[in-house]
Amino acid sequence: MADTHQNFPTLKNDRILKAARGEPVDKIPVWVMRQAGRYLPEFQAFRKEHDFFEICQTPKLACEITLMPIRRYDLDAAIIFSDILVIPQALGMEVIMKPTVGPVLPEPLKEPSDLDKLNTTDVVSRLKYVGEAITLTRTNLEGKVPLIGFAGAPWTIMSYMIEGGGSKTMANSKKWFYKYPEESRKLLKIITDATIDYLVMQIKSGAQLIQVFESHCEYLSLDLFNTFVAPTLQQISSAIRSQGFKDIPLILFCKGGLFCLKEQTKLGYDVLGIDWTVNPNMAREIVGPNITLQGNLDPVALHAPPAQIEKLTKSMKNAFGNERYIANLGHGIYPDAPTDAVQSFINAVHNA
Ligand code: CP3
Repeated sequence: MADTHQNFPTLKNDRILKAARGEPVDKIPVWVMRQAGRYLPEFQAFRKEHDFFEICQTPKLACEITLMPIRRYDLDAAIIFSDILVIPQALGMEVIMKPTVGPVLPEPLKEPSDLDKLNTTDVVSRLKYVGEAITLTRTNLEGKVPLIGFAGAPWTIMSYMIEGGGSKTMANSKKWFYKYPEESRKLLKIITDATIDYLVMQIKSGAQLIQVFESHCEYLSLDLFNTFVAPTLQQISSAIRSQGFKDIPLILFCKGGLFCLKEQTKLGYDVLGIDWTVNPNMAREIVGPNITLQGNLDPVALHAPPAQIEKLTKSMKNAFGNERYIANLGHGIYPDAPTDAVQSFINAVHNA
């Protein structure tokens, strides 16, 4: 099955699609994880008027924010405005976005019997607003750049559902793997099934690439990754491909995932994101020539003076090379990032 919406405006900039597929590009494509976030003053102003999830659930508002960084910067992709925690919400859990604290799930899963409380029937029917936001945004982008859809990876979502928010160690959620292995698999399956339907819905609505965020990869051991987590990531890519979406590039970003980078190459993704701790040459050696790499400037480097940002970006580009490379930060941009620094970064990728 190809694009279900044939009437979208013609795409004018397909650099990121080409790089994901290993085709030559005129310039290295660049986007920024969390590019529509709190570092943008226009986003902050918007947030004074609207609740976070109200924005996510209102296609017109989500579209407006998605376009903010595209209007401001010469980026090569847009990413739909939403959050990875809409999945626990659609499974029936309450999620509150607390300013300065971050996401809080007031009633986290405490024991396996809590799984019975989850609403697992037709989860995607409660996420239709994301599809509508994607379709509207594809139209309003006027073909300027491709639109990325996304979801959290199942382990990252599982850890939020058990921890109830951020955690230094993820010990409560990792405990499930050791104490309740079967129930952990059951929970991961519930999340994986919902995520597959959700991502397919995003593609049908107009998403042109998909990124899966495994933001909590760094807490795992290789054994836990291989035993519990890798199968869920593989199932997501296989299901998208087997439902006919062969040409949609799939990006996997495992934060802190150097320890399992080799294993990631076997999971069916076209692009692997790496964080700033990973040496690009080492990453290329591990993944081989047939996978595109994405990353990996330290988000904090945006506080350096413009000339230094240019120098760091240039050396990053040289290390990755021009082929099979998408420039990005090594994690989401932080709320205190100077807005001008983002333009310095993008210019250095495109021109330096
Ligand atoms: O351009 C974009 O990338 C915006 C869309 C987007 C958001 N969250 C909006 C958001 C995306 C792609 C995400 C992904 C996300 N959300 C991840 C994976 C990326 C990563 O950083 O590892 C994770 C772990 C979350 C969970 C989450 N949501 C956290 C930890 C926080 C608080 C910290 C923060 O960055 O603000 C959020 C809140 C959130 N998600 C905000 C935005 C714009 C700020 C909320 C606010 O306005 O109060």
